[in-house]
Amino acid sequence: NKSEFGLFGLGVMGKSLCRNFANMGFKISMFNRHVDGIEENIAKDFKSKYLELSEASAFDNIPAFVKSLQEPRKIMLMVNAGKTIDYVIEDLLPHLSEGDILIDGGNSNYKRTKERVDYLKTKHIHFIGIGVSGGEEGALKGPSIMPSGNIEAYKKVQRFLETISAKDKNSLPCCTYVGPEGSGHFIKMVHNGIEYVEMQLLAEVFTILETLGQNPNDVANTFETWKETASSYLLDITTTICRKKEGEDWLVKKILDKAGNKGTGNWATITSAELGVPSTLIASALFSRYISFYKEERLLLNKNFKKVNTLELKIAKNEVLKTYQFARIINHYQGFKLIVEASDKFNWNLNLSEIARIWTNGCIIRSSLMENLVEIFKSTTNILTNSQIIDLLNQYKPAAKKVVSQCVLNDIVTPALAEAIQFLNGITTPYTSANIIQAQRDYFGAHTYQRIDDDSAENHHTNWI
Ligand code: 6PG
Repeated sequence: NKSEFGLFGLGVMGKSLCRNFANMGFKISMFNRHVDGIEENIAKDFKSKYLELSEASAFDNIPAFVKSLQEPRKIMLMVNAGKTIDYVIEDLLPHLSEGDILIDGGNSNYKRTKERVDYLKTKHIHFIGIGVSGGEEGALKGPSIMPSGNIEAYKKVQRFLETISAKDKNSLPCCTYVGPEGSGHFIKMVHNGIEYVEMQLLAEVFTILETLGQNPNDVANTFETWKETASSYLLDITTTICRKKEGEDWLVKKILDKAGNKGTGNWATITSAELGVPSTLIASALFSRYISFYKEERLLLNKNFKKVNTLELKIAKNEVLKTYQFARIINHYQGFKLIVEASDKFNWNLNLSEIARIWTNGCIIRSSLMENLVEIFKSTTNILTNSQIIDLLNQYKPAAKKVVSQCVLNDIVTPALAEAIQFLNGITTPYTSANIIQAQRDYFGAHTYQRIDDDSAENHHTNWI
């Protein structure tokens, strides 16, 4: 009576996934390491807590865990991304057989995933990197799953992953084979980049609405009215967050304004720099988190640079909504642009519509906008060429300009909203100021430049003095 599927690592996500697999009727084996006095009997204790796990087998011993699985073995690693994955691979390897499949469900770096695929190929073991989104609740009730790697190996785990995943509006699984190598972890990284920006935009509009005199409960009421046109999971949870009270006070007012991060936004920013893609909103959202971390310096410097907030803010609520929607479209344009460029560069042949589709449920960035993108990506890889998107941006832009300029005049910090306007202006400008940059480079470094009145693409150099 061997198990069909193994889960290695019973942290928050691992535990929820085990329950999800068991609820779906799969016979699973669960492993958690034993550390004297710190992690003891984790798997056994966990099994005893939930009825659905009564058929599951629990282990803290690797050989017994591996032996309990049907061949080819399918083992999903739910351990901390980074070096731990490599340690776990080495611990498991002596006990595995040819054709076994390891699945990395953590937020791993896509480059490491490719290295692990290549390394394990030499051992005749398949390695599948999968992005998993949805947090604890998603993992339990159905996450969005982004698998990549060897397609034949994927087919052997497909039915498991599709069964436990969230379902889209047509009841199709929010799980699809993404592409080769680490492409699944790559798109999960971009998912998180988009997530950082969506979170930042909500934080910025919260500040604007607050400056307009709304208390957190009023902001929640405003957000409630936005659901019709801008519905999303992040808008929903932020509405709930705004309403939460602790005694007389709103809880958000008591939370220290220093934002943490676990690295995926950082990788997304580094990756866009490496690929030469202008993901300016992801960078802006990431750096806003970094600025937030300088709390002491902010307090110190605030004394030297007084904020002007005496002007009356001339903004209507529906203009804030339009500004928010404007920036969200630019965010999604930039995120998918990063995917398009990576797909071209690495020959991954990624399907944008399918990626948008598996992001319509289960994951953190699910939204009505994402639903629209599923259709739009069926006919283009560039949403700024789609007439519906063009109309929306043109309709929202006057409000966005007004809101952002009012924020600048009143020293209200809205870097991502402002960058969205600058970016659209930049990417739609026929002649940029890069001619000046080229002349400067040629002046001090003889780097040469090309001329618009010379079609030969020849490099020119001028003796500037
Ligand atoms: C998800 C989330 C999830 C998580 C990350 C990002 O899709 O379920 O993105 O992976 O929340 O850890 O978190 P940081 O904000 O800590 O970087």
